[in-house]
Amino acid sequence: MRKKLIAGNWKMYKSPDETRTFFHDFLPLVAGHIRDEIVICPPYIDLCAAVQATKGTNVAIGAQNLHWEKEGAYTGEICPRMLLDVGCTHVIVGHSERRQYFGETDDIVNFKLKAALEAGLTPILCVGEVLEEREAGLTEDVLRRQCLRAFHALSTKKAAKLVVAYEPVWAIGTGKSATPQLTSEAHVLIRGEAAKAFGQQFADKLRILYGGSVKPENAKALMAEEEIDGALVGGASLNPKSFAAIVKY
Ligand code: 13P
Repeated sequence: MRKKLIAGNWKMYKSPDETRTFFHDFLPLVAGHIRDEIVICPPYIDLCAAVQATKGTNVAIGAQNLHWEKEGAYTGEICPRMLLDVGCTHVIVGHSERRQYFGETDDIVNFKLKAALEAGLTPILCVGEVLEEREAGLTEDVLRRQCLRAFHALSTKKAAKLVVAYEPVWAIGTGKSATPQLTSEAHVLIRGEAAKAFGQQFADKLRILYGGSVKPENAKALMAEEEIDGALVGGASLNPKSFAAIVKY
């Protein structure tokens, strides 16, 4: 049985002050909850406040992005060691918004994934098709390509901490979540790619989350699927009550 991971991706929302307020309200709602792993990924600027607020609790903190170099003249970027230093344990890699608006290619995603794993962070690798690709029957090709390229030159040993999130882009922020059935099919395909790259034993243990309009109302049905090992939640993770309700699906 794979322990489910429920992660919140705050995207570009909340200041450090708002972060402290969130945890003040959220932590009592999930105190003692050990059935699932809980992670929140705030903006970089909020990471210190988030780590401080969650010290000694059942909530871990992740970043939303990282640079793949160890350090250097890369204005505006953050390297893996900096994330570790502030107390991050997780990092989102290759989110569709990074791919769509910031030119992240499959190669860049591969660099970032390798850098995160190398540093000992738990990467949450995002893959998913856009609406046009689904409508053109290209979903399988897209997911295969994204996995294959992301996994390039990674050994099974190095990949040990990998987590994947299937986030169909047409379901993100649209209120149109994918059905549990459709999601399961995508997860089976992704697990198959992981088996090809890292072996069946690895794939059996790999956690594959679903992301895209997860809400308290649909979380239970999604989490009931054997293939779905958790959720990556955007909008609904900004509110302590709704995120706690999702965690407790
Ligand atoms: P929403 O839950 O707002 O659809 O966002 C999903 C997402 O992109 C999480 O990374």
